[in-house]
Amino acid sequence: MFLRAPCKINLTLDIFDKMERTDGYHNIDSFVVQFGEPADELRVHIKPASDKNSIKVTCNDSRLPVDTRNLVYRAADAYLRHIDSPFNIEIDLYKRIPTEAGLGGGSSDAAAVLRALNNYFNQKVEPLELTAMAARIGSDVPLFLAEKPVRVRGRGEIIESLDFELPVLWGILVHPGIGVSTPHAYAVLDAVPNRQPGTSTERLLARLCDKKEIPISISELLATGLSNDFEPVVLTAYPDIAKAHEIIVSAGALRTLLCGSGSAIFGLARDLQHANQLVDILTIHFSSIMIVSSSCPDAFNIKQI
Ligand code: C5P
Repeated sequence: MFLRAPCKINLTLDIFDKMERTDGYHNIDSFVVQFGEPADELRVHIKPASDKNSIKVTCNDSRLPVDTRNLVYRAADAYLRHIDSPFNIEIDLYKRIPTEAGLGGGSSDAAAVLRALNNYFNQKVEPLELTAMAARIGSDVPLFLAEKPVRVRGRGEIIESLDFELPVLWGILVHPGIGVSTPHAYAVLDAVPNRQPGTSTERLLARLCDKKEIPISISELLATGLSNDFEPVVLTAYPDIAKAHEIIVSAGALRTLLCGSGSAIFGLARDLQHANQLVDILTIHFSSIMIVSSSCPDAFNIKQI
């Protein structure tokens, strides 16, 4: 099977106090959209085995582990343990989504494997159980099981479909050349005294559902509603990311937003033409810049090879 694993952008990310939970995680409230590019690619081969399960992962990026530390390994392992009959699984992972960028690459890869295996085994695992399995692998894995924009709550395991069709969004994505570890970003956030969690998800989703807002273009509506609680603290802790953010603001993006816990930065564009203009202005500043769109018909395809 050939799979594409898209990236995600948290258009809003409200993060609540760690003390709300007993497991050390934070409750979040986030509006998440998947973008078809950049996407990772996976080739998955499944064969019945005579004796016991075997899982082999290979990856084009030699810096990434291919053992139990890799989320695709964990996804295959979790699924096979559930099936309870022996199989050989080989996964060849081609990474295009930068790591430690806040784009959910590893989580998307894991979700793609879960969906592919569940397809192969005729949906043997029920959706609720598959979501629980995904959540045990990582907080961002469940959202990638949904093949559409979603509201994400809890520590990432509560996934809600939305009541409206989101038009295609265009933008640019910049990788500032450094990564941010998610636990470190949460630690920096926790260190802020008397921090007030955002309320942007609730507000933005209410506006998107409100038919009276329709005369405003979607990108203009989003430009005033996008928000990420990580943004101020990560920009303060990482001056290079703050500099990249500032450059994208001055290039004229409708809104410039840190992706998840960082380090990638999203610049919202009005349309494809505007995204192209942003790229023209920004190429002298960044070696890694790409046009992204929330529409990609092939993004979730599983093809037999
Ligand atoms: O679940 P995942 O392994 O992706 O989380 C990585 C780390 O990010 C956790 O160990 C935790 O420190 C932090 N985290 C959190 N609250 C969340 C998600 C992640 O504190 N909702």
